[in-house]
Amino acid sequence: MSTLTQIDAFGTPPATEMIFDDWYPAIRSEMLRGKSMTKALLLGVPLVLGRKKDGSIFAMRDLCPHRGIPLSAGWFDGEHVTCKYHGWSFEPCSGQCSEIPSLTRHDTLDATKIYTAAYPCVERDGYAWVYLPKPGSGRVQDVSALPPVPEVPKFSKRFHTAHLSAELPCNVDHGIIGLMDPAHGPFVHQSWWWRSSKSIHEKQKHFEPIPGGFRMSAHAPSGNSAPYKILDKPVTTIDFVLPNRRYETIRAGKRWLASITTVTPVTPTTCRIDVYAAWNILYWVPFVPQVLKFFARIFVGQDTQTMVEQAEGLRFHPGLMLIDDADKPAKWYFALKQARLEGKDENPLSGPVTLRWRS
Ligand code: FES
Ligand SMILES: [Fe+2]
Repeated sequence: MSTLTQIDAFGTPPATEMIFDDWYPAIRSEMLRGKSMTKALLLGVPLVLGRKKDGSIFAMRDLCPHRGIPLSAGWFDGEHVTCKYHGWSFEPCSGQCSEIPSLTRHDTLDATKIYTAAYPCVERDGYAWVYLPKPGSGRVQDVSALPPVPEVPKFSKRFHTAHLSAELPCNVDHGIIGLMDPAHGPFVHQSWWWRSSKSIHEKQKHFEPIPGGFRMSAHAPSGNSAPYKILDKPVTTIDFVLPNRRYETIRAGKRWLASITTVTPVTPTTCRIDVYAAWNILYWVPFVPQVLKFFARIFVGQDTQTMVEQAEGLRFHPGLMLIDDADKPAKWYFALKQARLEGKDENPLSGPVTLRWRS
């Protein structure tokens, strides 16, 4: 029995409000090829994605505006998506209907006046990023007026890249506060090559407000993390930016590693974590990418396993606690999200803050 079925059997895990009007990674864009259509679920919205003959990618709501059958059940010829039920055809980047086969010359209905929901969709860092407007707010007319599509910064011409992804059976808030949680490391990520619960020591980190989020200011990463010892005097910056992005950049002279981790709502009660990293550290050394991917998979696997276990408890809707200072970033996240949902541009940090915890 899968974890999700187990959860359904005992009750629904807690739902949360989702932030629309922003970019989210839907799937890896390499999956979009030929005349195939790919389905995805994003913020509870069913999507059908594909790539047109000219290379452009599209994301439409996967529901025919005529009778609601998924458009992905129909056909795509590289230019138009045709519904399986009555053959209405749509240009998938604009969502504009191009043909209604049942119309005769006596009908006055203009098929091209009908639009199905098509969302702005851009390829970046190997993801198909989709901009999801608030339901009912109509079509996005001017894509150039939207906020920029998120991207990992790159600091040299040559670099390696890797990505991983895992579905989490909890809502996006738990995914995100797990992502920024500083105190779980010695417990969830115990291993001889990383750290143990005995390596706990007091830490002090500096934070500052940035637009839509906060930054853990430049610092040398934990001296007790063995892999970081390969780099001399590295400087790390970690940013959290609404709605769901954690950027981490490590730079040591000309060597660098940068990543973007997002936790994306799939439905109001479930989410997916995606990690994309780029780096030039040990660029010419064979197997470094494989080794890095291996360890990253272990790391994300440990977090995923923990959240799967947590979801088991959350289906009983227990009361929860956020303590100072270790859970302060989580408190900031909830405050930022609340402000955003209320349409306010407010940051819970009014200036630099120092937090202390043991990890
Ligand atoms: S349901 Fe799609 S054309 Fe009728
Ligand atoms: Fe973790």
